[in-house]
Amino acid sequence: MTLQGGLGPSLKPDALRDKPVDSLVATIHGGRPGTPMPPWHRFLSEDEARWIVEQLLAGFPESASATQRDAAPGQ
Ligand code: HEM
Repeated sequence: MTLQGGLGPSLKPDALRDKPVDSLVATIHGGRPGTPMPPWHRFLSEDEARWIVEQLLAGFPESASATQRDAAPGQ
């Protein structure tokens, strides 16, 4: 998994930085109808989708320390 996009767009911090966090959260939680991006709301709460956006903006996976990797959302 490179997060550089292929079927989907790049999820690298540079590509996401200028986009509103709330809309990125909504994309993960609700998907994008009419595109291959599926909704994840059956598996993730909105807070968990927000946590994923925060990790991506912080440079996950390159920047992930053991602590970040092991931390659950909100901890
Ligand atoms: C861990 C799973 C996933 C996460 C966290 C994720 C996250 C995202 C995010 C944040 C965006 C918005 C990017 C932007 O606006 O620049 C996006 C868009 C997109 N994703 Fe995903 N995605 C996931 C899985 C998938 C899968 C499994 C597919 C398809 C097989 C997919 C296909 C797409 C596509 C095609 C778009 C662009 C939609 C459009 O044209 O507006 N994603 N994804």
